[in-house]
Amino acid sequence: MQIKRLKLKNFRNIKALDLELAENVNIFYGDNAQGKTNILESMFLCATGRSQRTRVDKDMIYFGENEAHISVFSESSGFNNKIDIHLNGSEKKRIFINSVPAARLGELFGTVNVVYFSPEDLMLIKEGPSYRRRYMDIELCQISRIYYSDLQRYYRALKERNNLLKKLAVNKKNADMLDIWDEQLCGYAARLMNSRREYIDGINERAKPILNDLTGKKEMLKIVYKSNVDENIKKRLKEARDKDILYGNTSVGIHKDDILFYINGVNAREFASQGQQRSIIICLKLSEVELLSEKLGKMPVLLLDDVLSELDRSRQSYILNNIQKLQTMITCTGLEDIGDISNTGNIYKVKKGEVSK
Ligand SMILES: Nc1ncnc2c1ncn2[C@@H]1O[C@H](COP(=O)(O)OP(=O)(O)OP(=O)(O)O)[C@@H](O)[C@H]1O
Ligand SMILES: [Mg+2]
Repeated sequence: MQIKRLKLKNFRNIKALDLELAENVNIFYGDNAQGKTNILESMFLCATGRSQRTRVDKDMIYFGENEAHISVFSESSGFNNKIDIHLNGSEKKRIFINSVPAARLGELFGTVNVVYFSPEDLMLIKEGPSYRRRYMDIELCQISRIYYSDLQRYYRALKERNNLLKKLAVNKKNADMLDIWDEQLCGYAARLMNSRREYIDGINERAKPILNDLTGKKEMLKIVYKSNVDENIKKRLKEARDKDILYGNTSVGIHKDDILFYINGVNAREFASQGQQRSIIICLKLSEVELLSEKLGKMPVLLLDDVLSELDRSRQSYILNNIQKLQTMITCTGLEDIGDISNTGNIYKVKKGEVSK
């Protein structure tokens, strides 16, 4: 699939923009703090309904303005689609798919599929498990709407269960209601766990040879899905009840899941160098491209923000060779980072929120 055109109004530091994009590699270059990441963020927003950098919609509206508008025109298997997102500081964001208002965020998934590498993704390795769960959820939501709705329902049931736990700490009345919430949590959790396990297996399978090639066979990668519940989640919930009532919180379930990265047999969280972390994440993203292409039957759009810094020449050229086959938006501070630009599509210079071709 492809993003053919991007239109922005009052988005971050961009007052107005209307861009036609090339079907292969699009390079956005410019000094720091000019708006390169903002452009990629707007595309990610149209694909997933959220930003990778903020949960606060107002942050994305040009300082001092009341509204921002983002439109993405895409094409997939001969069909044209248009997504419009309107941000208003005081209301919920409004989303339109082909001019029809979307009632729920979930309707957006699948219209534009992207795989995004952002420098913030390095936190996936070093930070706590919530980053890794969020990453898994965003990817799986793009693949399956059932996953999205199961996830929503799981978190709704979890909230209800936690509310009840807090009440039970004061008054034991209605303790049997816990059975009802446990039953619901178990049903959703079983399906979500299966999807997560299958997804990580798929990524693992693809990531290994990619890292092998990327590093000239120097590094071996293993990615492991780690759930804090086994198949017997119902029993585990029951065993944890007294403790859960004491803390007013559910201690077991897929909301505690994690992913572990091992590089050459050691945990990357503790031992990977900066360059190795970057390579693992790139490898993860390139594997996602393969997996999404197979699952959806179409290539996603690849968004690469500042991917080339901190990588040695051979790793850089591996990436640049591998992005030729799909539509890519890549940012960098100077064109010398890219090396040979003869095969690229469009090259844009970004300066103070303005873009010139
Ligand atoms: N809501 C907003 N309104 C106006 N300007 C904003 C808003 N949000 C962010 N900015 C500004 O946008 C500028 C450009 O940000 P962006 O992250 O896109 O830079 P960049 O070109 O990717 O730089 P770098 O090379 O350092 O990554 C920043 O200076 C930031 O202050
Ligand atoms: Mg940037």
